[in-house]
Amino acid sequence: MTAHTRHGHHHDHSLEAQREEMTAASWDERYGGSDRVWSGRPNQRLVEQASELAPGTVLDVACGEGGDAIWLARQGWKVTAVDVSEVALERVTRHALDAGVDDHIKVGFYDAMADPRPAHGHTFDLVTVSFLHPAEPDFAEVYRGIAEAVAPGGRLLVTAHHPEDVATGARHDHGAGRLFEPDRVLAALGVDPGDSTDSADSPWEVAVAETPDRVQETPDGPLAVRDTVVRLRRRLG
Ligand SMILES: C[S@@+](CC[C@H](N)C(=O)[O-])C[C@H]1O[C@@H](n2cnc3c(N)ncnc32)[C@H](O)[C@@H]1O
Repeated sequence: MTAHTRHGHHHDHSLEAQREEMTAASWDERYGGSDRVWSGRPNQRLVEQASELAPGTVLDVACGEGGDAIWLARQGWKVTAVDVSEVALERVTRHALDAGVDDHIKVGFYDAMADPRPAHGHTFDLVTVSFLHPAEPDFAEVYRGIAEAVAPGGRLLVTAHHPEDVATGARHDHGAGRLFEPDRVLAALGVDPGDSTDSADSPWEVAVAETPDRVQETPDGPLAVRDTVVRLRRRLG
């Protein structure tokens, strides 16, 4: 299946093609194609959510070039930043040196498609993942693996593009249903989205499950977009 986007590209929406967009080769090529793909600024949602937390240890999953990781390190967090792209990880290391926070940041290779668990038994006070959109059939396994890295009493923060951005033409969808709402995260972790009272059976307490608007600056001017933001706390014990 192919579709036209507003940029006029053709996109193959098969599951195979979606998985291809989650490979080291694909991201090394993307990062290798320019000196800087992202702004270097931290994501607004991370700043909003993490500013309320006392700094501790944090795992930044799919960290990209390290905008979030460097901001977290500056706030006093001890950061582990992981990604499938070694090109991106080299940038994180370089930017951390430039920012003088290299003693607060470790980087590591992580391929969610090869093994969804980023930390293999290590746990963190905060696990944050910004804009990682696996193919829908792979979603639950990937996010469950990521959630395993949250320490008892620790937090999971998921920020993503909301599916409404496809309908408004703000971005293409890479394929059927890769952008997601908060419910997809809750369902993957077995948290009942209809149950707002925190049931003690669930290991997770829902602090935030929201879909806030934001204005994104683009070369074509400001663009209204929507985010998915989920913040959970793993219960003690
Ligand atoms: C849209 S970027 C977001 C980067 C960063 N979190 C940010 O907000 O700037 C998605 C990131 O996911 C990483 N990624 C893609 N597939 C992955 C996989 N299979 N395992 C780990 N990371 C992956 C990419 O290399 C890329 O850095």
